[in-house]
Amino acid sequence: MHNFIFHNPTRLIMGKGMISELEKEIPADKKIMITFGGGSVKKNGVYEQVKKALAHHDTIEFWGIEPNPAIETLRKAIELGKQEKVDFLLAVGGGSVIDGTKLISAGLLYEGDAWDLVVKGSSGKTVPMATVLTLPATGSEMNNGAVISRRETKEKLSFFADFPLFSILDPEVTFSLPPHQIACGLADTFVHVLEQYLTKAGESRVMDRWAEGLLHTIVEIAPRIKENHTDYQLMADFMMSATMALNGFIAMGVTEDWSTHMIGHELTALCGLTHGHTLAIVMPGTMYVLRQQKKAKLLQFGERIFGVVSGTDEMRIDETIRKTEAFFRSLGLTTRLSEENIGIEVIDEIERRFNERNVHYGEDGLVTGSVAREILLHVM
Ligand code: NZQ
Ligand code: ZN
Repeated sequence: MHNFIFHNPTRLIMGKGMISELEKEIPADKKIMITFGGGSVKKNGVYEQVKKALAHHDTIEFWGIEPNPAIETLRKAIELGKQEKVDFLLAVGGGSVIDGTKLISAGLLYEGDAWDLVVKGSSGKTVPMATVLTLPATGSEMNNGAVISRRETKEKLSFFADFPLFSILDPEVTFSLPPHQIACGLADTFVHVLEQYLTKAGESRVMDRWAEGLLHTIVEIAPRIKENHTDYQLMADFMMSATMALNGFIAMGVTEDWSTHMIGHELTALCGLTHGHTLAIVMPGTMYVLRQQKKAKLLQFGERIFGVVSGTDEMRIDETIRKTEAFFRSLGLTTRLSEENIGIEVIDEIERRFNERNVHYGEDGLVTGSVAREILLHVM
């Protein structure tokens, strides 16, 4: 186990009807900007619940933070927030609205163009923010990361801001999710765990078992959610899994990877594929190409999650990769680039970008432009 300092300050408020807690959680003297996506909250009753809870607060609204939030949109929110002297932000939506609001929280206290902060990778001071989560997937409700896109250059980059002060998770608000978003959310959660687990063996029994607990849960609930995504207990377990998968709890003292995510972000930026879907395509390729480095952990993962115990080590790893891909397909996602009409020119561009940035992703820094190419060629 490596040395570490763990601190997660986000207050988690979970359960049916808990959106009403907003009234107590946000100080009455705050000028609040509530941020939203494209309007799903108006169809599922979330908007009414938020407005009711904040009826006695001073609020303004900003609408239109799109999936893979764009700097072009967020600049407008920052301008409005500065004009209105906003001193509290409430994001109501999925990872995109939350991530976008993290940039707004930094941009409100920054003089220059907020894109500078994204390029730098970290924010300075921030305005306090909180969230009402509507889509279990990213963990953004309980971490300090955000991923922002720039449409004009087709870039998508991550940066770190502050943690939300609190996040409200009511599983009932997920009942209105479209099946594709549920599939992508399950895949995203699963891959978040793998990015922190499928690295070096023997670093922490505690982290291994927590990670495996989340993986088991996802494998168990996924087919049942596909049958019925309005089952409260199932969606509560999904929400908890997604939050716990990326709030630091399974990363204490262990080595992380994140190369699948970095390649996935490029596929979204260049081709518009939904985040979780990109991971379902890339992850089996990462497992295949880095099978030597990840050998011990791949064997452990295969045995403990999918019960793969027979054959030589190489046969077991092949079977584990096959079962992982089959799991993603069982969610209703495609797992090959060709199925999404993504061709060699996209792979060329990702390799070019990675070389230009001189990247060395992954636990051993092995994932360079040419290794990313190999990974993507494997999942053509
Ligand atoms: O915009 P609205 O109308 O609200 O519709 C959204 C959107 O179209 C819809 N939706 C959300 N909740 C709903 C709902 N529809 C019906 N009922 C509900 N309850 O779902 C669509 C997708 O929403 P989005 O927020 O884009 O999805 P997600 O939560 O998967 O967020 C994806 C973004 O988060 C980033 C991704 O890269 C991507 O940009 N990530 C952020 C991370 C972080 N901050 O830690 C880590 C992740 O790895 C990820 O990279
Ligand atoms: Zn993710």
